[in-house]
Amino acid sequence: MEINGEKEQEKQQIPLLTPYKMGNFQLSHRIVLAPLTRQRSYNNVPQPHAILYYSQRATKGGFLLSEATGVSDTAQGYPHTPGIWTKEQVEAWKPIVDAVHAKGGIFFCQIWHVGRVSNTGFQPNGQAPLSCTDKGIAPQVRANGVDVAQFSPPRRLETDKIPLIVNDFKLAARNAIEAGFDGVEIHGAHGYLIDQFFKDQVNDRTDQYGGSLENRCRFALEITEAVTNEIGAYRVGIRLSPFANFAECADSNPKALGLYMAEALNKYELLYCHMVEPRMTTATKITTKTECLHSLVPMRKAFKGTFIVGGGYDREEGNKAVEENRADLIAYGRYFLANPDLPKRFEINAPLNPYHRATFYVADPVIGYTDYPFLDERKVPNL
Ligand SMILES: Cc1cc2nc3c(=O)[nH]c(=O)nc-3n(C[C@H](O)[C@H](O)[C@H](O)COP(=O)(O)O)c2cc1C
Repeated sequence: MEINGEKEQEKQQIPLLTPYKMGNFQLSHRIVLAPLTRQRSYNNVPQPHAILYYSQRATKGGFLLSEATGVSDTAQGYPHTPGIWTKEQVEAWKPIVDAVHAKGGIFFCQIWHVGRVSNTGFQPNGQAPLSCTDKGIAPQVRANGVDVAQFSPPRRLETDKIPLIVNDFKLAARNAIEAGFDGVEIHGAHGYLIDQFFKDQVNDRTDQYGGSLENRCRFALEITEAVTNEIGAYRVGIRLSPFANFAECADSNPKALGLYMAEALNKYELLYCHMVEPRMTTATKITTKTECLHSLVPMRKAFKGTFIVGGGYDREEGNKAVEENRADLIAYGRYFLANPDLPKRFEINAPLNPYHRATFYVADPVIGYTDYPFLDERKVPNL
């Protein structure tokens, strides 16, 4: 007993390992699995291999975010990303969610629409992708450094069609709950559809969804309202990256955008706001730490719910951010991808497995996915 007590005390001295109450959810530590697209959901259907992948990363009282998951057949822009708009997809998520719950994890689904980061090949009937604009984006080298992603010029969403997309997010949230998820994270970051509406370098609309900051945030807030009305704000979060310019999606005043959203979200009593650090600015999502003059502290202060930060954090910096109350929770992407037992490693300050960028997005059911070693191989769950 005493030994356990001492161990518990030791853990309490590591800020990342302290418990935290996020609304109704009792978390046992602050280390969140960041949403990570893995492109192994063939034909947009989650696969059984994801059961092992997510359960490897689940801990009792740990908070996990799913990879970005499409809200409709117009939401896709990459091969083999999962969806949550069909019955088949909902059924396929169930055993994955169950496995995370069996380990005591709390699991939210990140719901997503790529907007113009797509091409006609991913769209129903070969139509042009949807966006707030009809301005296209230049081809981009994919993360493997070899393939080039081609984008088709988008179709500007007509004002009266916008409620249809809002409704897709609402239905996706309902489906996520049906699949057993504990909640949803609205993907409002990284140059995808919601971010395309936010950013003044992209949004060239003249209706009530373009122009002023208030107008550019309207689409995100309508989605927030629809989703919270549908499933309850106590299980809804949102991810935002006001400072990023992924997929040519930049804003001339990201601080004002971040602050406006943080304050506007309070009205909905959203469970959490998840912001990407300003240092994550490049399109490749692989930037490492750089000196950065911007900070999320003003947004952290403005937002009344749980504040999650992510982007370039290591153990030391995560501990510092929690200790200094700059965030409640820290989302880890690449380190968690490569270290299924990341919370354990942070607890005992163990060395980390390096991540292999070349296998981030390969479609294999094992390689670069469930084959990263645990500290002690005997602890690999035998599913
Ligand atoms: C392989 C990979 C896939 C990603 N997929 C998503 C995603 O689906 N949704 C999202 O919001 N961010 C995604 N990101 C961004 C991560 O969630 C995270 O913000 C980023 O990796 C920076 O955090 P890190 O320094 O801890 O890795 C992805 C990043 C990587 C490396």
